[in-house]
Amino acid sequence: MNVKLDYSNLISTNIGSEHGIEFDEIKKMAESGLIAANALEKKIEDETLGFYQLPFNNELVEEIEAYASSVKERFTHYVHVGIGGSALGPIALHSSLRSSYYNSEDSPKMYFPDNVDPDWLAELIDEIDVKKTLFHVVSKSGGTAETAATMLYIMKFLKEKLGENFYKNLLFTTDPTKGLLNQIAQENAIKCFRIPPNVGGRFSVLTPVGLIPAAIAGIDIKKLLAGAAAMSQLCREKDVLKNPAFIFAATHTILMKKNKNISVMMPYSNKLKDIADWYGQIWAESLGKRYDNQKNVIEVGQTPVKALGATDQHSQVQLYVEGPNDKVITFIEVENFKHNDVLVNHFPYIKDFDYLAGSTLGGLLNSEKQATEIALTNNKRPNLTIKISEVSEENIGALIFFFQAATAFAGELLNINAFDQPGVEEGKIATYALMGRNGYAKKKKEIEEASARKKLFVV
Ligand code: PA5
Repeated sequence: MNVKLDYSNLISTNIGSEHGIEFDEIKKMAESGLIAANALEKKIEDETLGFYQLPFNNELVEEIEAYASSVKERFTHYVHVGIGGSALGPIALHSSLRSSYYNSEDSPKMYFPDNVDPDWLAELIDEIDVKKTLFHVVSKSGGTAETAATMLYIMKFLKEKLGENFYKNLLFTTDPTKGLLNQIAQENAIKCFRIPPNVGGRFSVLTPVGLIPAAIAGIDIKKLLAGAAAMSQLCREKDVLKNPAFIFAATHTILMKKNKNISVMMPYSNKLKDIADWYGQIWAESLGKRYDNQKNVIEVGQTPVKALGATDQHSQVQLYVEGPNDKVITFIEVENFKHNDVLVNHFPYIKDFDYLAGSTLGGLLNSEKQATEIALTNNKRPNLTIKISEVSEENIGALIFFFQAATAFAGELLNINAFDQPGVEEGKIATYALMGRNGYAKKKKEIEEASARKKLFVV
């Protein structure tokens, strides 16, 4: 595992004291950092915080690897049914660690439909061979509307093709005891993997939620967890000034007070684009909170924005360099790309191309990252870089663990509960009401009254 955090461009010596952080401020926070680290340790010990233990479950790894090889023998297609924390992590693992053209080269072909767009799902059914498809339904709660609806939609085709044997093409991953998926699994002998009760949806990528599709796709999940395990040691360091999770959390919380309420995640690597997407959920849903732990209204959080280098240099970077100074930009830089072909100027009469000759695409990409970093820093825009030696299982596991631990630290430093999502629950309840679910009639009436008032303002 080789992951480094360079936060020098957040410090006032590089970007000035109006927008930058005095290093002393971070040092002063070390005391609250230690309190936060101890609070997290206590939650690990009393087993209320489960994600710290995930890299160490060797027995589960063996079970998943054996199951994955049986899937490869039996199925030509794999469809992952889930949303939010039950989908974003698995997608990020797949796109970072497998070829972008995996489905044209490998088997089983893999799909991650994390939305209920009916046209998109109908296209998927046309694309796959239902009889030879494993449908992995993932829901911690077992009752999320989108996941349930997708499962019901799929069931029609499964029953048509397999009759009462439909259960052979289903796999569930859910809570060990709670939720509707458990009831269905019991009644229909459907195989189930478990999400530990003390691991929330957006922290669940290193449970069977992410490990099963990863193992099926041929990702080395042992190495993935080894990277996470190595990073977990660094993120439990009590000398918090050496702890990368504390440093990321502390600097971001200080910057929030300086009105940097947007967190841009900008990998200079297409393979890491979905890691930025996954980060968007964990940072937003965990830290975007109205109340602190004492129920005072604080309305904190940073809006995550995804950007891709170098593509978004030609789209968003103008805004980042000259627009409102309300962002902190995190670059992810890959030091060594797997492919490093040297460019040749095939048009020697065009001297303007000579500067590219002798270089590599990776060299250009990383120079562009450095150039953007310089432009931002010269314009006093806080930015930091996470450098990974290469896109590998170990480094992706480490990166995932790092962001999870940084989120947990930020929750402690902000004195909020980073592990609930009351705002999402509110939306879920409104969906149930609108769809006429039993027990939600009062809510439905409220929504209908509000909708009637809305009509006045539609032109
Ligand atoms: O982090 C969370 O808890 C959420 O984003 C959930 O992952 C998401 O709402 C899906 O929930 P479930 O896995 O219960 O279907």
